Amino acid sequence: MDNSPSLSPQEADRLYSTVARLMTREHWDTHFRDDIAAILRLKKERNAVILAHNYQTPEIFHCISDIQGDSLALARKAQGLEADVILMAGVHFMAETVKLLNPDKTVLISDPKAGCSLAESITAENVRALKAQHPGVPVVTYVNSSAEVKAETDICCTSGNAKRVMKHAAEQAGTDSVIMIPDEFLAANISKETGIKAITWPGHCEVHEQFTPRQIKQYRVMHPGVVVVAHPECPPPVIEAADFSGSTADMINFIAQEKPEKALLVTECSMSDNLAQLNPGTEFVRPCNLCPHMKRITLKGIRHALETMQTPVTIPPHLAEKARASVERMLAV
Ligand code: 13P
Ligand code: SF4
Repeated sequence: MDNSPSLSPQEADRLYSTVARLMTREHWDTHFRDDIAAILRLKKERNAVILAHNYQTPEIFHCISDIQGDSLALARKAQGLEADVILMAGVHFMAETVKLLNPDKTVLISDPKAGCSLAESITAENVRALKAQHPGVPVVTYVNSSAEVKAETDICCTSGNAKRVMKHAAEQAGTDSVIMIPDEFLAANISKETGIKAITWPGHCEVHEQFTPRQIKQYRVMHPGVVVVAHPECPPPVIEAADFSGSTADMINFIAQEKPEKALLVTECSMSDNLAQLNPGTEFVRPCNLCPHMKRITLKGIRHALETMQTPVTIPPHLAEKARASVERMLAV
């Protein structure tokens, strides 16, 4: 396999233009151009597609990925892909979800240590104990979870469909409550919207739990008129202090539609970078917090993964069927 990088000047100009608001051409040429060229060629040679979560850095998000989105969109679009290889530029649970939906394809993640504090907060045994404590109450599990936890689940949800799924699960079971795990804040925020009681688990996103309503108040003073958009993994008082809350895709759509002069995205930092490129009329003010797991995914890592076909995601067969069913039930709602 020939790995010597090359991009035509026209192609390099076009690719750079997708991140031109965020970095200089010199920076792009020096740090990214060779790896981008190699990755684009490797994608063709391997018949591979790259899925990128909205928290990926701009050079991954804009320059090499084929499909971008929130967890829900990535799971949906991962179905029925023609490619032989799917590389997930995102964290491990996202790659695992893609593998569940594509058991016969090679699904790669460039750094299998790219975890998630939510996924790591709960085990299958914990879920079995919750079910024993609350017989007959359906289990709704956030996709930010392991396959073994999904296998103990009635139906999965993402931040993009949590409201719908919560209502559906309670309706199907004929209950006024659901077990909603592992994100305590997401469960509380969605329960407030639906009026359905949530039995929760004390899992938190280490990125979103750090935001406070005080920070938002301070930013409103510093930037009068700023529109505050928060991810539902934030603590409920932060959501109350925001103007809008939704999944990363909902946040993107909200900014595109509302076109605020100034916006504060209460979420991971790369969202503001990626959106600044797409929404030149909006000034994005901080704070933001970095997700250390998402940041394990780099261009160099992706290039290496496609060169070596490492690391393929595997799911023990005894878990895969049940875990897949909980994801498929979600996609059917
Ligand atoms: P979204 O599904 O909204 O993209 O969120 C995934 C995630 O991990 C947010 O921290
Ligand atoms: Fe997990 Fe939070 Fe990182 Fe999302 S931002 S992957 S929820 S740790």
